[in-house]
Amino acid sequence: MSRFTPETIERVRDATDIVEIVSAYTDLRRQGERFVGLCPFHDERTPSFSVKPRDGFYYCFGCEAGGDAIRFVQEKEGLAFPDAVEALAERYGVEVERETEDPKAEEARRRRGRLGEALERVAAFYESFLWESPKARKARTYLIEERGLGEEVLRSFGVGFAPSAWDSVLTRGQQAGYSVDELLAAGLIQRSQRNPGSHYDRFRGRITFPVRDHRGRVVGFGARGMGPDAKPKYLNSPESEVYRKSRTLYGIDRARGPIARGGRAVVVEGYTDVIALHGAGVEETVAVMGTAITPEQLKLLGGYAEEVVLALDADRAGREAMLRAQRVAGSGRLRLLVAAMPEGEDPADMMQSEEGSNRLRELLADAVDLAVFHVRAILGDADLSNPPGRDRALDEVVPVLVGMGETITRQEMVREVADRLDAAPELVAGRMKSGGRRPAARPEPVGRVGDGQSQAPPRRRREPTQEERREAMMLALCMDAPDLSASYFERLGPDHFTSPILRAVFERLREHPADPLDGLGESDSALINAITKLQAVDHEPATREDLEFRWMLLERDRLDRTLRHPEGLEPADLVAMQKERGRLADAISSVEARGIGGAVPGPAAR
Ligand code: UTP
Ligand code: MN
Repeated sequence: MSRFTPETIERVRDATDIVEIVSAYTDLRRQGERFVGLCPFHDERTPSFSVKPRDGFYYCFGCEAGGDAIRFVQEKEGLAFPDAVEALAERYGVEVERETEDPKAEEARRRRGRLGEALERVAAFYESFLWESPKARKARTYLIEERGLGEEVLRSFGVGFAPSAWDSVLTRGQQAGYSVDELLAAGLIQRSQRNPGSHYDRFRGRITFPVRDHRGRVVGFGARGMGPDAKPKYLNSPESEVYRKSRTLYGIDRARGPIARGGRAVVVEGYTDVIALHGAGVEETVAVMGTAITPEQLKLLGGYAEEVVLALDADRAGREAMLRAQRVAGSGRLRLLVAAMPEGEDPADMMQSEEGSNRLRELLADAVDLAVFHVRAILGDADLSNPPGRDRALDEVVPVLVGMGETITRQEMVREVADRLDAAPELVAGRMKSGGRRPAARPEPVGRVGDGQSQAPPRRRREPTQEERREAMMLALCMDAPDLSASYFERLGPDHFTSPILRAVFERLREHPADPLDGLGESDSALINAITKLQAVDHEPATREDLEFRWMLLERDRLDRTLRHPEGLEPADLVAMQKERGRLADAISSVEARGIGGAVPGPAAR
């Protein structure tokens, strides 16, 4: 069998949670940046074994066993290197690429390297332009005087300024040996609409924030217009071969050390918030860049942190984002906390004054459990002035309390809820036991916008049909691989979906493949909920074969539905459809025989 690509091994190392792997063999305790415990390789009474999640290594001071997660699995599970790599790849959902089997993969890696290099050079160009060009004086004044950001921290984040010319990067990039195609693929230039065949710089006359992956490689930019009415305020790099927004957190390269040392991460909305907080010494801060936090981002944080403090806007949208975080966090080790930001203020603004900065530090220190925040948000929104209003609030609060598990925090919340609702604590507790259902059932109040999961009282949910499961899996895979899915969005239509909500998700995805949640608000909670649920569906990384297989299933289902009601079909069409149906059925069974589609578990449209 051929060798893994170096990149595969690197990705396996990156994706693996070494603490989790080792914890299966010995109990580990956090001690600053490392975890310590009794050595699983030799008998000992006092712990001399240590694991450093940041570097991904373990070492025993007693018996001198040491290595990375792959080595550990080799030793403890008696596997050869390739088998250990595969076991970890499977466990952490890393797609395995092999050296000679797949020259395309090698080419893709080489190309990613070129794009990364181009991005790196452009970042350096923008940065020196900011500090050296007279044309960037206004930008310097704005950042330092108006925004109160220090030169040192701005430099450490590589903040820059893109000249206003149309071709600074286009010309320099080509001179440096990059093709137009490479500059396009890196998101640095764009095609001209007016003059087909010509191109111009994407970022012009804007302050640039290089976005880096956790290893510090530039993958894209956020670029802020100057002045209050720049449209859009931020122009961002598109998704690309090197930039996947749902997997990126701004500032993670600088924050991951401090996060691992303290076990805590702070998540804010934007670029300037991260820089302001780092400048003030809160170096465990990263940003979600204005969108809802994704499962992948939480997983990335989970590699370093035990606690994540969400310091997001207190407005309704920010609140929804936090509650979604709760859903995507799932059962991981991460504890989610909320620091409720005052309305209309963000961390960057607050850090500008001594008083605001102290207030922010207090808010971070006083962050409450996400579930507690949720309960208080429900109570805060409810009409508590009359018993029916209080009943509705109780309906909403009970499932959240149930989800908290049997903790002291929950017990205190039960008291708090009872107090606010003017109810006996026994009533609240009793409702929690009966699973939140009111003993005497009553129709759902009409016209309420519930998201069906966390807000409304639990309804008995219908099991999804097989067709719906297949529809959900198709969408989950498409979301996982926006680049592969483009051609399927052309082939799929609304009539491939029997479930109305999945059809809505499909239409949303087709319009916003890169960032389906972008711009959704309070009134879209059903859609948001469906999308985040699909993002959390467990599946193998999407491959072209999977997508093709899933597409065939949906097309077969659609033909079956049409053929069940052949009234009004032209006989010729009917015959053609039956033929196509037969062809699909054959193709599907041959894939199933090879065991490809079978490897993908059915999605519980949970
Ligand atoms: P904000 O509007 O809160 O911007 O959006 P900000 O970070 O506070 O920016 P300043 O402080 O006014 O300079 C938060 C984040 O949302 C994304 C950016 O990542 C931004 O940092 N955003 C916002 C966009 O991508 N595009 C926009 O037009 C606006
Ligand atoms: Mn701001």
